[in-house]
Amino acid sequence: MTYEETAVDQTIDRLLTGHDRAPDDLDQFHVGGADAVDLLIPGLALADGDRVLDVGSGFGGPARRIATRTGHHVVGIDLASAYVDAARALTAKAGLSDLVHFHHDDIASFDPDEPFQAAITMHVQMNVADKPAWFRRIADHLTPGARLAVWEVCQPHRVDLPWPMPWSLDGTDSFLATPGDLHADIESAGFATATWTNETPWAQDWIAETFAGGPPTGPSLPMLLDDGYTRVINFAAALTDGTLEIWRGHFTRAA
Ligand SMILES: C[S@@+](CC[C@H](N)C(=O)[O-])C[C@H]1O[C@@H](n2cnc3c(N)ncnc32)[C@H](O)[C@@H]1O
Repeated sequence: MTYEETAVDQTIDRLLTGHDRAPDDLDQFHVGGADAVDLLIPGLALADGDRVLDVGSGFGGPARRIATRTGHHVVGIDLASAYVDAARALTAKAGLSDLVHFHHDDIASFDPDEPFQAAITMHVQMNVADKPAWFRRIADHLTPGARLAVWEVCQPHRVDLPWPMPWSLDGTDSFLATPGDLHADIESAGFATATWTNETPWAQDWIAETFAGGPPTGPSLPMLLDDGYTRVINFAAALTDGTLEIWRGHFTRAA
């Protein structure tokens, strides 16, 4: 299975020895790094007191980015306990523990005290077979009129992929949808569309710029993942040749 790396927080500690702070994209487990989170923030239309839910929060990079950029409280939930431990440790190091919290949980069993006014999910639904049910569970935790932002991998045409990919080591836990089917699944869960945009050209430019000088020197995301470099290289190649696409969506939860 994927996401079974252990003691990620200790790996991060080891990688960061001798560094003042974590590099910007070490903890961003999606294409586009922190820049991609910045693309999602305006559509969240955060108002005073709004709290944000991050579903499948990984190492916590997106949650911390939102908190740093906006000053709003963010709660992340993730199925992988080692990822939650790493997210908490990085949050403490960043001095954000008052603003950002993480729970080891599945959206299906998550039971927050109060609903949220906004939510994000980045590169998670590819692991989810029943997408309408999954997005309905997200909707259940949001107030009427709350905003949802997604940053998603889609497969426009069914072709064999070279495994491993970042979200799946062998394809057995991968459930890719076409952009049209994913969009319909999100709407069927009670969300009205504000934008549904193909960001593949943006992602291709980001990959070209980020890797123009070769693989990054210093600590980087692939170092935290089993077979990390192969996963990232396969993904970058599939995005560059158009086998996979990146779609950004902003939605409003129906009243
Ligand atoms: C590719 S990573 C993306 C992490 C994070 N969203 C980011 O962009 O940095 C996918 C994450 O989704 C989590 N995940 C997968 N299915 C989940 C579910 N049903 N509920 C909560 N988390 C889930 C995994 O444990 C993993 O951390």
